[in-house]
Amino acid sequence: MTLRVAVIGAGGRIGSEAVKAVEAAPDMELVAALGRGSRLEELTEAGAQVAVELTHPDSVMGNLDHCLHHGIHVVTGTTGWTDERLATVRGWLEQAPELGLLIAPNFSIGAILGMKFSQVAAKYFESVEVVELHHDRKADAPSGTATRTAQLIAAARAEAGRPAQQDPTTHSLPGARGADVDGVPVHAVRLRGLLAHQQVMFGDTGETLTIRHDSLHHSSFMPGILLGVRKVVETPGLTFGLEHFLDL
Ligand SMILES: NC(=O)c1ccc[n+]([C@@H]2O[C@H](COP(=O)([O-])OP(=O)(O)OC[C@H]3O[C@@H](n4cnc5c(N)ncnc54)[C@H](OP(=O)(O)O)[C@@H]3O)[C@@H](O)[C@H]2O)c1
Repeated sequence: MTLRVAVIGAGGRIGSEAVKAVEAAPDMELVAALGRGSRLEELTEAGAQVAVELTHPDSVMGNLDHCLHHGIHVVTGTTGWTDERLATVRGWLEQAPELGLLIAPNFSIGAILGMKFSQVAAKYFESVEVVELHHDRKADAPSGTATRTAQLIAAARAEAGRPAQQDPTTHSLPGARGADVDGVPVHAVRLRGLLAHQQVMFGDTGETLTIRHDSLHHSSFMPGILLGVRKVVETPGLTFGLEHFLDL
């Protein structure tokens, strides 16, 4: 069965890639591509079954409100989620229990696997530090992915009964040891020419393990978006995180 897919935010960096990816997918048909000036009614007029929403935190709630009240499943990668916003969309989904909504803070399958592998490795190593590296226009630091990775590592260490890491530093310049995320140092590099990269470094007696992921182009998000579209139509309710669709 061919899925009838619309992209909202089709003129954006990620959205324009999503338009191409949906057009190229053999099991999907692109039925609408909406930019900022478009009418949301175009979605129902085009018979969209799934909307891929890639816009802005100021726009996402209005778009989801419309889709979920008009029988359209949604995959969104737009950021800015709070507990309050999640409660609101859960309320909308209760009124449309047949619909699925995927909110994916990260569509990169490699980045999600990097997080998972780090979580698995966490309890086996005494030391761990996270280094995330991004392009020079990124506003937030550390990245959401790095923060989440450090939290997962800290939780896995705590669950295994590992004590907090010891930091021998007695003299340092502010920031030299990175940000402390639940006891895991997280370092943020900003460099023109990079896109999105992360390495998690584990160390113990006589050995280290580095888990590194590199997003080299916005196309890296497309396999995750297409997977989300295929799965969301058969997964009613809210799914937060693409990892739930990856059979990890
Ligand atoms: N989940 C992930 O893996 C992932 C990865 C990267 C980025 N993101 C997030 O995805 C979102 C989009 O990122 P991006 O880099 O593609 O941003 P972008 O280049 O600024 O694209 C966003 C697009 O959405 C349009 N837009 C805004 N409000 C709209 C509305 N109400 N209806 C239709 N279109 C609307 C914008 O139009 P104007 O130009 O007119 O404002 C722009 O073309 C951001 O929230 C970003 O943080 C997620």
